[in-house]
Amino acid sequence: MTRSQTVAVYGAYGHTGRFVVAQLRAQGFTALPLGRDADRLAESFPDLAHRVASVDDPASLDRALRGAAAVINCAGPFALTAGPVIEAALRARIPYVDVAAEIEANVDTFAHFTDQARAAGTAVVPAMAFFGGLGDLLVTAAMGDWTSADEAHVAYGLSSWHPTGGTLVSGTVSRDRRDGRRVRYTGGRLAYHAADGELPTLDWDFPAPLGPRPVYGDFTMADVVTVPSHLPIPEVRTYMATGAARDLGTPGTPAPVAVDDQGRSAQTFTVDVLVRAGGEQRRIAAHGRDIYAISAPLAVEAVRRILDGRTLTTGVASAGQMFDAPDFLRALSADLSLEPRSA
Ligand SMILES: NC(=O)c1ccc[n+]([C@@H]2O[C@H](COP(=O)([O-])OP(=O)(O)OC[C@H]3O[C@@H](n4cnc5c(N)ncnc54)[C@H](OP(=O)(O)O)[C@@H]3O)[C@@H](O)[C@H]2O)c1
Repeated sequence: MTRSQTVAVYGAYGHTGRFVVAQLRAQGFTALPLGRDADRLAESFPDLAHRVASVDDPASLDRALRGAAAVINCAGPFALTAGPVIEAALRARIPYVDVAAEIEANVDTFAHFTDQARAAGTAVVPAMAFFGGLGDLLVTAAMGDWTSADEAHVAYGLSSWHPTGGTLVSGTVSRDRRDGRRVRYTGGRLAYHAADGELPTLDWDFPAPLGPRPVYGDFTMADVVTVPSHLPIPEVRTYMATGAARDLGTPGTPAPVAVDDQGRSAQTFTVDVLVRAGGEQRRIAAHGRDIYAISAPLAVEAVRRILDGRTLTTGVASAGQMFDAPDFLRALSADLSLEPRSA
């Protein structure tokens, strides 16, 4: 499989960026690693042409994107990187995809770039990754022929969560932006409220092999931006397995360690989605390995479809709006197993 297109990856030598570069190469694209540190680019990708660019220097981004057919931004915190890289992609008139899990950064992408991206006829897809992207695809697929629903619930059954430095820094930036408040999506909007005590716990009925297990409710992830960006669902809730949430919150939890030849960790996940409308409910679940690694096939499949013209809209759109969700999910069968669940 040979594709002539060059796809730039900003933040290429980060943990997720490396998975994305490897996935692009495996899919026959020419990967163009970009980042702000020349030495780390050269060490990480000795056999690839690479370019140095800084989000503080628009001209460096313009030079870095020259000749690229698309850019995937893996450099977080996206509160700092998304705006400058999207602006450069729009100047270059190429599609932009990122893996942002930060709720407020994703809100900003929709708020600031919707008109410009539509006017440029260019695709901008934020949160095209495990959090925000996969949940949105699953909710959209579960909806089937429903055009609206009363509630959507996305439960994350992670076996563990060994966070990367980027995850931790991005979490801190998001918490600072919230000024210590918590956020949930209710009544058709993001609602900020005081962090009053522990998050609520409940038992979530995950499919086998996980089975019922405790989750934190109101563990709010980027799906609360992506799902309601295109589906009229006034209540969107996300949940996290308590063990994984504790890993994330415990100082000193180690970073992920590769245990297979693809560099994936031993972490497994089940994402279980339930939508309700008028007293009926529909469900679908997805199982896979390593939430960072799976973000690479998600982002690269998005780029492939945009470059092939297999999109449903232009401008800023989440995965579920930009793509045919069931077809997109089926295309990930090498990395993701799907389980329609009877309600
Ligand atoms: N939505 C999802 O499910 C999902 C999945 C995977 C990752 N992510 C997000 O992706 C981001 C990266 O995660 P990671 O696991 O790859 O972390 P990582 O291994 O720590 O890598 C972070 C990367 O971002 C770059 N970076 C950070 N700040 C930058 C800035 N201001 N300008 C240019 N480059 C900058 C870093 O370069 P330097 O070393 O030069 O700082 C590095 O290349 C995080 O925000 C994470 O939350 C989200």
